[in-house]
Amino acid sequence: MVDTSKITLIDGRKVASDIKKEIADRVSELKKQGKKLPHLAIILVGDDGASTTYVDGKVKACKEVGFHYSLLRFADTISEERLLKHIDQINNDEDIDGFIVQLPLPSRISVEKVTERINPEKDVDGFTNENFGSITSADPHIFPATPFGVMELLRRYNVDTTGKHCVVVGASRLVGAPLSMMLAEQGRATVTICHKYTENLASHTKKADILIVAVGKPGLITGDMVKEGVVVIDVGTTRVEDGSKPRGFSLKGDVDFDTVAPKCAMITPVPGGVGPMTIVSLLMNTLKASEQRTV
Ligand code: GUN
Repeated sequence: MVDTSKITLIDGRKVASDIKKEIADRVSELKKQGKKLPHLAIILVGDDGASTTYVDGKVKACKEVGFHYSLLRFADTISEERLLKHIDQINNDEDIDGFIVQLPLPSRISVEKVTERINPEKDVDGFTNENFGSITSADPHIFPATPFGVMELLRRYNVDTTGKHCVVVGASRLVGAPLSMMLAEQGRATVTICHKYTENLASHTKKADILIVAVGKPGLITGDMVKEGVVVIDVGTTRVEDGSKPRGFSLKGDVDFDTVAPKCAMITPVPGGVGPMTIVSLLMNTLKASEQRTV
């Protein structure tokens, strides 16, 4: 076991719970003022176990803060055309402030087409090209949920990224790419983006003041790949078979905690680090979308 007494463990559950309280307070105020309450709609296609668990978590979070929600479930045989029609309906539904289409989708449905059909003002996942591009605008509209969660964790733990060297491992459209832009723009950091074609990954990760890993390869980053005093944010959450757990699996991060943590100033555990933040980011985005629509 790692002695964590000298390391700050970044407690995503605690931060997420604090933010949920802040949102619930805002909802109470809206209620008192007789205003419309935020309404999130969630589209779930098929019955993939992990997706169903994520969606259950999102519904539970809406209930906790007092949002209205709608869950629209479709069989995985739904055609792309019908799914797009449902998206149009939600785009035109005056009561719904924000909505998400849970990914992944069946491979015959184009994620790009589906995402781009969502009205960017209701795109509370922040997946549309318009919202992606707006990260670098003077007035960003909606930030992608997981990167927003990471930035909020850094902010609430007083990690100043200004002028610091942030190394982001993973350049995905949903996490690594937008997060790199946010660290450079809002975070004023010097950013290195590494991906699966990067040669000598360790030569980059060793230079990081702040290392963010979002790849989905359990244990990719080991202790010899980081410098002393680094802040590590582990976005990876991969289900790994584990007979000792009631559900038959455990969640593993991209960082080998036992060898990396002893060198860190701060680190996010998995689970309990970034994971809980993604859902509250979605709530924050829905609140923002709702308040922008009703002013
Ligand atoms: N699948 C895994 N993570 C996410 C997410 O943040 N949003 C959506 N829509 N689907 C996901």
